[in-house]
Amino acid sequence: MSSQEMYDILEERIDGYTKSDTRRRDADQRKTYDEVFDHMALLRIYKLITSQVIETLDHPISTGKEGNVYRATSPDGTLLAVKIYRTSTATFRNIMKYIDGNPRYRNIPHKRRQLISVWAKKEYNNLSRLIKFKVSVPQPVHVSGNILVMEYIGNEFGAAPMLKDVPMEYPEELYMNIIEEYFKIYNTACLVHADLSEYNILLTEEGRLVLIDIGQCVVREHPEAENWLLRDLKNISRFFVRRGVAADWKNALKYIKADNDKNKFSI
Ligand SMILES: Nc1ncnc2c1ncn2[C@@H]1O[C@H](COP(=O)(O)OP(=O)(O)OP(=O)(O)O)[C@@H](O)[C@H]1O
Ligand SMILES: [Mg+2]
Repeated sequence: MSSQEMYDILEERIDGYTKSDTRRRDADQRKTYDEVFDHMALLRIYKLITSQVIETLDHPISTGKEGNVYRATSPDGTLLAVKIYRTSTATFRNIMKYIDGNPRYRNIPHKRRQLISVWAKKEYNNLSRLIKFKVSVPQPVHVSGNILVMEYIGNEFGAAPMLKDVPMEYPEELYMNIIEEYFKIYNTACLVHADLSEYNILLTEEGRLVLIDIGQCVVREHPEAENWLLRDLKNISRFFVRRGVAADWKNALKYIKADNDKNKFSI
């Protein structure tokens, strides 16, 4: 396979991607594509296509600081989410603090690109662990270098909205469900989310809450785990207080720490 043939296939399968004719695209879009699809990323996407993990990379769902998330379609037509981490210095600095001090990641690589791959693998492993303990997160499908493929949360018309953007009829119920999810994260999967907020929880039209952005999750033994647990509960409680719920992070903490799954959490 010549590299020209590879690019031909990629042009066909990645929406909006053109290697040869960049003039047709506007400067912003070109920047995003060039930053995310460096040569390594293109090789990996090509591999995902030839190994039949995905058939097409359809369109961006989100372009964030640390990476972009795309909707993709598998050969059998299932929709998937593909998260491609940026391999930039800023991303590198930000993720170090979640890897340092984590007993599972003692031999961390020093090269930036390798570290981002460890980070993507970490998100994949965290998702697998949380799925095993029945926490509501996207099912992980595949990880390769800085690219993570997972279950797509949403429908054919679009990705499920973030909690911050949904009008809520029963906010109390949602708050209690999130604390119940956290109970499982902490007491059965033995992890701390460490970035829980209304931005990292999706709500499907069927009313299913899904926790996302699991890369920075740490084990309970991490020296900062207790601080991050508190920060998570404060963040989410503050959000629900603004939605009129009598949410008290201290009660949520007491419930989670009591580790008694016979009691349901209530406000
Ligand atoms: N599995 C998924 N299914 C559908 N949409 C998703 C999925 N994962 C992520 N998204 C969308 O992509 C956005 C960014 O994902 P995520 O929070 O995991 O990345 P991030 O690195 O935090 O990016 P950002 O810097 O934008 O916060 C989410 O807010 C959500 O809208
Ligand atoms: Mg996020």
